[in-house]
Amino acid sequence: MSELDFTVRGERGPALVLVHGFPLDRRIWQGVVPKLPPAVRLILPDLRGHGRSALPPGPCTIDDYARDLLGLLDELAIAKAFIAGHSMGGYILFAIHRIAPDRIAGGALVSSRALADTEDGRKTREATAQRAEKEGPGFLAGTMPEKAVGSSPPAGVLDTLRTVIRSAQAKGVAAASRAMASRPDATPQLSRVTFPMVVFAGRGDKIVPAAESEAMAKAIPGAKLVWCEQSGHVPMLEEPDLVARELGALVG
Ligand code: MLT
Repeated sequence: MSELDFTVRGERGPALVLVHGFPLDRRIWQGVVPKLPPAVRLILPDLRGHGRSALPPGPCTIDDYARDLLGLLDELAIAKAFIAGHSMGGYILFAIHRIAPDRIAGGALVSSRALADTEDGRKTREATAQRAEKEGPGFLAGTMPEKAVGSSPPAGVLDTLRTVIRSAQAKGVAAASRAMASRPDATPQLSRVTFPMVVFAGRGDKIVPAAESEAMAKAIPGAKLVWCEQSGHVPMLEEPDLVARELGALVG
């Protein structure tokens, strides 16, 4: 287990953990945080090897990120939390569901998917990992932001993504690429989800096709599918009002 750097807003009330995706950090939730009800206790971690959290030596799996978050909940004496995961953060939510389902009060999958990587996808991940180790993660700031947004992102979103990605940790990016490549298919879990779940789908998502999000939502009993009509892969940056409203409703 790794100690995480994190931000907390509020001391009591239902806990909501906002888990960022790859190769990002907690700053991607900055537009959503002020719009969430003040009665919600917010926890924003940087995953190991991301943002201000250190990467322990050795390789890691998606389950390790999940155990880190469970350790953080223990540290904060939170028995059960709502957990919203963006993309890779959603893979981690599925891992928590496998390891400790009783710790989840409700979940949100933001532009995420249940399916594991294809063989080709795994090769691309390894190439990304090796390139990040060799030259640093800066090259991702050139390729990822354009791919991550829809056709007309709000002003500043591309810059935010570039800034966050440029500051990513090379070893953290490599470790996360390999962890994602080795994650299992979460599809068999979908029918076993017993907590309230919201699935956010960006209509213009070029990374997780909208149809895949729709199919995933249909396979989760009682899940609410929220279409983000103006978004690509980062609705928390592209439509923060909508994301905050739906997360607020989830937490109640
Ligand atoms: C993410 O946003 O976390 C990544 O795009 C996830 C992935 O590459 O599968």
